[in-house]
Amino acid sequence: MAEMLTMLFSNVYVAAISVFVLLLVALAAWLVVAERYLVNYGVCKVDINAGEKLLEVDGGQTLLNALIDNQVYIPSACGGKGSCGYCKVTVLGGGGPILPTETTYVTPREARIGVRLACQVKIREDITIRVPEDLLNVKMFRAQVESSKVLTYDIKEIRLALIEPDTIDQRPGQYIQIQAPSPEGPVFRAYSISSPSQDKHVAEMNVRLVPGGIGSTYLHNLQEGDEVFFTGPYGEFRLNEEPDTEIICVGGGCGMAPMKNIILTIYDRWPDRSVWLFFGCRSTPDIFYLDEFRELARKHPNFHVVYALSDPLKEGEKWDGDTGFIHLAVDKHLEPNVKRQAFLCGPPLMIEAVTRVLIDKGIPEKDVFYDKF
Ligand SMILES: Cc1cc2nc3c(=O)[nH]c(=O)nc-3n(C[C@H](O)[C@H](O)[C@H](O)COP(=O)(O)OP(=O)(O)OC[C@H]3O[C@@H](n4cnc5c(N)ncnc54)[C@H](O)[C@@H]3O)c2cc1C
Ligand code: FES
Repeated sequence: MAEMLTMLFSNVYVAAISVFVLLLVALAAWLVVAERYLVNYGVCKVDINAGEKLLEVDGGQTLLNALIDNQVYIPSACGGKGSCGYCKVTVLGGGGPILPTETTYVTPREARIGVRLACQVKIREDITIRVPEDLLNVKMFRAQVESSKVLTYDIKEIRLALIEPDTIDQRPGQYIQIQAPSPEGPVFRAYSISSPSQDKHVAEMNVRLVPGGIGSTYLHNLQEGDEVFFTGPYGEFRLNEEPDTEIICVGGGCGMAPMKNIILTIYDRWPDRSVWLFFGCRSTPDIFYLDEFRELARKHPNFHVVYALSDPLKEGEKWDGDTGFIHLAVDKHLEPNVKRQAFLCGPPLMIEAVTRVLIDKGIPEKDVFYDKF
């Protein structure tokens, strides 16, 4: 009898919880629909950088979308999903309280001065914001695929010839955002520029295919002559201009792109500058650009190229270079306490391991820059 009562009680308990959860979900869905179709916020003003740009936009949309619609292209590497933290702006008035979806990327200190993720801020009233001056110069480019070349089984080199505007002023280490079609409308994805800054009429990328990925699939399927739109350039990295500062580039996978840009830009301007390229691959099929870099090293004796394979060699696989994870190669080859600046690009674990090694070698943390992807 007691057992039956316990079972009955737990069934009633589970049913009550389920009904409660269903009610909450229904309420949340109703609020979303009501906000979208019933609430009219009218036209709201967006004041950017103390009146430098004044917009009138329809309320109810995200700040990110309102800015893009008005040709203010702030970085949005995840396409507005709230998962990259790149779309930070400072909201000085309006914008409501910070949302839980923002606190992963906005530190409490930033939040106190009004830093917000533009893709999470809904415009419901007039809003005053501040954005870095550089971003007001970011443009939308129309370009044409000049070539699409297979580099490995999953990476392609895609070169875009610029049409309008027909030149780009980019610094090595910067990236662009490609506009890719999707069933929900156009989305933007970030890709580092691999062509050097002196090549002003092209934007080249190394794109790794993510299975089922919207942006990378779109780019891998492009054919010569296809039209492409992108915004840019973005990115804070500034190459140290003192020729006696050694430059350390460490990359893995499609993290090669900014390295290629940095290296080719440097050897156009400073033929004798000391540069190290460390590139981590799993196995020989992942290797690309090695012959080109070895050729460059023959012309510039202060250029050092180290590729390392992390997987054990398979039977018949030939490799006479370094083996093991790339941070071990960095540790093995670099002398400590040399004046250096480092740029790292690749998966987060690689970046963390390499950063620790570089700091141990005496590079101040402020001189270690990275893009995690
Ligand atoms: C500053 C910056 C620079 C970048 N530069 C480059 C570059 O030079 N070359 C390059 O190839 N990429 C680069 N990326 C990554 C690129 O922006 C896209 O995130 C990537 O191409 C996947 O986009 P997608 O639209 O194909 O996939 P999505 O449609 O966004 O994702 C599809 C699915 O794949 C998953 N996914 C997303 N990304 C990855 C990933 N990297 N590995 C495994 N699964 C994933 C998602 O979680 C999702 O489930 C860069 C990113 C940033 C932030
Ligand atoms: S666009 Fe990625 S977090 Fe806002």
